[in-house]
Amino acid sequence: MEKFLTVDDLKVHFPTQDGVVKATDGLSFGLERGQTLGIVGESGSGKSVSSSAILGLHRGTSARVTGEIRLDGTDLLTLTEDEMRAMRGKDVAMIFQDPLSAMHPYYSVGNQIAEAYRVHHDAGKKETRKRVIEMLELVGIPQPDRRIDDYPHQFSGGMRQRAMIAMALINDPKLVIADEPTTALDVTVQAQILDLLQKLQREFNTAIILITHDLGVVAEMADDVLVMYAGRAVEYGPTKDILTHPQMPYTWGLLSSVPSLVADVDQKLVPIPGAPPSLLNPPPGCPFHPRCAHKDKVPGDLCFTVLPELLPGDRGEGHLKRCHLTEPEAIYQEEVVKS
Ligand SMILES: Nc1ncnc2c1ncn2[C@@H]1O[C@H](COP(=O)(O)OP(=O)(O)OP(=O)(O)O)[C@@H](O)[C@H]1O
Ligand code: SF4
Ligand SMILES: [Mg+2]
Repeated sequence: MEKFLTVDDLKVHFPTQDGVVKATDGLSFGLERGQTLGIVGESGSGKSVSSSAILGLHRGTSARVTGEIRLDGTDLLTLTEDEMRAMRGKDVAMIFQDPLSAMHPYYSVGNQIAEAYRVHHDAGKKETRKRVIEMLELVGIPQPDRRIDDYPHQFSGGMRQRAMIAMALINDPKLVIADEPTTALDVTVQAQILDLLQKLQREFNTAIILITHDLGVVAEMADDVLVMYAGRAVEYGPTKDILTHPQMPYTWGLLSSVPSLVADVDQKLVPIPGAPPSLLNPPPGCPFHPRCAHKDKVPGDLCFTVLPELLPGDRGEGHLKRCHLTEPEAIYQEEVVKS
């Protein structure tokens, strides 16, 4: 049975004067309604570019998008622009990191949410206003009947993020893409917003793609995790299994560098050495090899010459890793956890 959202061999390539930037290079994943997929990876790994493709945001640009993105059986890449517009905001909605830049400073918060509603509904002013107030109340804005007429700058950061969520959910979308939705917020507000998203997800049975740098957030929110490196999935599977039995060195590095996941206070945070590769000229073989501390355990020059496929590791069919190591579990337990 095909999943509610199925992304198959998605590629987003940007031709530039210096060559082709392969921002997304053969990404496949699936997501059911009511479930959350966390996408993690360092800056520039292709998280936003990939998820923007689902909303058709590369249309009309020089980007070359290929592969398939099927939502409830419909291939979104084959839709006409009119069909895509009808779907955007209604079936699929996006919550961005910084609501201040995503909201227009000269229109009231209420007007902007109302606009998002009226694009997809033939509703009168009164009915729309009622619906907007309902949504503001649902996302926890106090005195929504008054605050509806405030401008974005009159809202706190947390309230703006709530308003943004109200705007994204007002049309009851089946899929919500949340791109770093809480990065700009302090920890307490972050937790409230994540709680809110979970509550609304349960209520509306929404599928959520949650893009984040923070594996702690993933641990709280996501059913499955997809770890991206240089435009590709390098590990993909159930969150619990990935957090406790990660199967490849890049994920080991991510986990060791996240404060919220390092339970033992004496355990030191270890940043991943080096920087992500250029997507114009990624290294041959495994693109992580220049930074990988475990490549000496792979025989010959495989890591330097052959791109590993995304295949099951030691944890069964549902947990995939892109790495040549043959016994990752033993290496992780012996050399990473114990060190
Ligand atoms: N229009 C474009 N033309 C050329 N390259 C682009 C374009 N848009 C994005 N890229 C490149 O694609 C790569 C992936 O970008 P993307 O925004 O998806 O990263 P990200 O994983 O979301 O990073 P961050 O965590 O910083 O948000 C980057 O190297 C970026 O420079
Ligand atoms: S394939 Fe080789 S270089 Fe890449 S992560 Fe695995 S061990 Fe490291
Ligand atoms: Mg991004």
